[in-house]
This record gives sequence, C-alpha cells and structure tokens, in this order.
Amino acid sequence: MSVMEKNIYFFVLGTNHTLCKIDVVNTLTREGHDFLILAASEEVLLIETKDSFKINFLMAELGSVVKAGRIFSLKQSVEEIIAEVKSKEFQEFFLPQKKESYRFGISVYGAGGGFKRLNEIFYQVPSSLRKIKSLFEEEGININYLSRKEREFSSVAVKEHNLLSEGFEMVLFSAKEGVYLGKTEIVQDYESYSLRDYGRPARDPKAGMVPPKLAKMMINLAGKEKKELFLDPFCGSGTMLQELSLLGYKNLIGSDSSAKSINDTKLNLEWLFSRFNLNKKDFKIELFQADVTKISSKVNFKTVSAIVTEPYLGSPMARSFDLGKVKKEIKKLEELYLKAFLEFRKILKDGGGVVIIFPVFRFKSEFFSLGIMDELKKMGFEKIDYLFKKPEGWEKLNLNLTQRYSVIFFRPGQTVSREILVFKKV
Ligand SMILES: C[S@@+](CC[C@H](N)C(=O)[O-])C[C@H]1O[C@@H](n2cnc3c(N)ncnc32)[C@H](O)[C@@H]1O
Repeated sequence: MSVMEKNIYFFVLGTNHTLCKIDVVNTLTREGHDFLILAASEEVLLIETKDSFKINFLMAELGSVVKAGRIFSLKQSVEEIIAEVKSKEFQEFFLPQKKESYRFGISVYGAGGGFKRLNEIFYQVPSSLRKIKSLFEEEGININYLSRKEREFSSVAVKEHNLLSEGFEMVLFSAKEGVYLGKTEIVQDYESYSLRDYGRPARDPKAGMVPPKLAKMMINLAGKEKKELFLDPFCGSGTMLQELSLLGYKNLIGSDSSAKSINDTKLNLEWLFSRFNLNKKDFKIELFQADVTKISSKVNFKTVSAIVTEPYLGSPMARSFDLGKVKKEIKKLEELYLKAFLEFRKILKDGGGVVIIFPVFRFKSEFFSLGIMDELKKMGFEKIDYLFKKPEGWEKLNLNLTQRYSVIFFRPGQTVSREILVFKKV
C-alpha cells in the first residue's frame, strides 16, 4: 500500500512536547481510533490510523498542537518528492480547490532523522520552492511561493499569509525511514487562546493563572465523559472552568478560599459565555467560597468524578535565595495538599480522578518537589500512568519524565515549575 492510501497524520507539538504527545495519543484513544506511532521527536508526532478522521474536530479537543495535517508520501530524498509534483495525485492532494492563482510555502521539521539530514533538507528549500513553482507553471498553474529564513512557518505566519485558504503549506519531515511530505490542514487558534488568557476581564497574575492550553491538557488527562461532575477547588480566576465549559463539560463546581477569586471567576465566566456564544441554560455551574480543607462540608460525598486543579503553589517570598525558606514552604504546602486530598477522598466517586499541579521549587541547580507520594498511596490514591492505553510504537514517543515518572511543565524565567500528576481514588 502506498503512503497516500494509508491514513498518516502529523502533529506539530507545542512547547511541552511530552504533555502534547500524551494529549494527542489519549485523545485518539478516547475517540476510539486504532493507531500506531510512526515517528516522534521534540517537534512532531507522526501517527498512522486504521480509519481516516476529521482532524479539525480533533484539534478543537487538543490543548497544545500547533499545526496538524496529513501525510502524502514517504520518499528517500527531496528530489524524489519534487519528481512527483506533476502527478495527478499530487495536484489533487495539494490543490483541491480551484483558484486562479495559488501561494505556497515549505516548512521543515525533524522527526527523528538526525540533525545532519534535517539541515540538508532545510538547505534544499529555496531551490525546491523555485523548482516546484516552475513545474506547476508548466502545467498552466499560476503559483507563487513564500520564502522564509526560519525552518518553519509558525501558526501565526500560516494564518497571516492565508496559506491554507489561498494555497497550501508543504511540510517536510526528516525521519529515520526517509522524508515524509505532508500538507497542513489546520493551525492552532492562537487568537482564541490569547483572548482567553489576556482578554478576559479579571486577571490575577499575582495569585498565578494556569495557561489555558495547560488547563485543557489537564482536563483531557482526567479521561472522563462530558456529562460527569468536575470540581476545581482552587479556581482562582476560573481558567479551568473556562476551558471545561469550552470543551463541553457542563456539570461544574468551582470554589476558592478567596471571595475576590470567586468574583473574578464569575466575571470571567459571564464574559466567556457571551464572547463564545455558550448557552447558560445548557450548563450547571456552582461557585462558592470555601477553604479546600473544609470542602466536604459543601459538596455531597461521592459525587465528584474528577478534580482538575492548579492549587496554591506557595508564597513568591519563599522562592528566594534561602534554602531554609524553600524547605519551610514545601513543608507547609505538603500539609495543605495532604489535607486537601483527605477531603477529596470524601467527595470523589470510587474510581474518581485527580489531575493536579504540584509545585517544584528550584534552588540553585537543585529541584525540590512535594514528598507526599507515600502518604497519598496510604490514603487510597494511586498515581496513574499518563497514557490511557499504550499504542503500538509507544516507545518511540520518548517522553521526558522525572525519576518519579511525572511530567514537569517549565517556563523559562519562572522560579516555580509545575509538576502535573494524575491520581485515582482506589
Ligand atoms: C494558583 S491560584 C489558582 C489559579 C487558577 N488555576 C487560575 O488559573 O486562575 C491558587 C488559588 O488558590 C486559592 N487558595 C489558596 N489557599 C486555599 C485554600 N486553603 N483553599 C482554597 N483555595 C485556596 C487562592 O485564593 C488562589 O486563588
């Protein structure tokens, strides 16, 4: 079977490649697809599925994929790829819509084929653009190209140059088995993400806000159905509840110990519902002020399916140059988190999940995490794997995990990193 007859899709990954790969693989599993991992790197993921599917739908569910599309061919060189430009299949694949003129660009990504090969392919881009243009013109097709100093077009560049509506983006992947050629079908809706982060009425950078893409990936990690009851007991300005609503989860509770946070969440949800045309009547959202250590007095026992939350990550004062302060803060946070889990145990259904952020402090070159894993185990919380199911070829994913098999979400310049953990009440 030729590559074109197969269903091979590519995903260009966001900043945390590990979380992003987990997100794609789990979403495909949840949607019931039968698939295998063909190639993966810190930049991209190539997946072959048994049946074809609508990538646009998948993209709406995913938290961090930058662009995605379909693979057309696998060749041994760029020359072999160019030799196909005049074929009917190539033209049908890349130019399905009839236009008087087209524009196109080429992006190059590494998919495990090594740095040398990646560079060789990148150096061939300017001449390839010219050759492809003249081959199309010989066929009577009016076409122009966009050249670029960088290896790739960002999602912003693809959108701003109208590459998807006025032409196409060819994407080359340097893999061990050769060079894959694909076409971008969709790019991330970066404007919407930015609006949801910076455009909402109430923001609280001091208390900290979880980035919307991370919130979305955490919600996906819960692996629960959309009708189930979700709780964020440290809702802050409501990012988690925002992303839950947009993903179609309709049964939600948000709480926080601060009255200001509850007010901020209300304002932000009002804004979100009107800005994104969500119908309030379709949702059941409860918001109230409560300390997490007493949350079971406000939520019925054994009713919550998933708690997805970014808790209090410690005082910024403790992220200082004093190791003693760091250790003291960790101790305080360990106590708070353990008390919170005791409460979670009461209100979670059996088999319910907790997707949570633990802070990781950095002092000089050392990292300090919360050491409460054993207590949580004794309490009846099992730390579970990130992947719902391991697909064929999963070892190619090369996930970047810590010694305790966790993922760290790190942002340059931040003194506290986020450790993403998933637990199940057993
Ligand atoms: C890091 S913020 C959460 C941010 C939220 N994920 C967002 O994106 O807006 C932590 C929140 O925990 C709340 N908090 C701190 N201690 C708490 C406690 N004991 N019980 C409940 N909420 C608490 C704070 O008021 C703050 O809003």
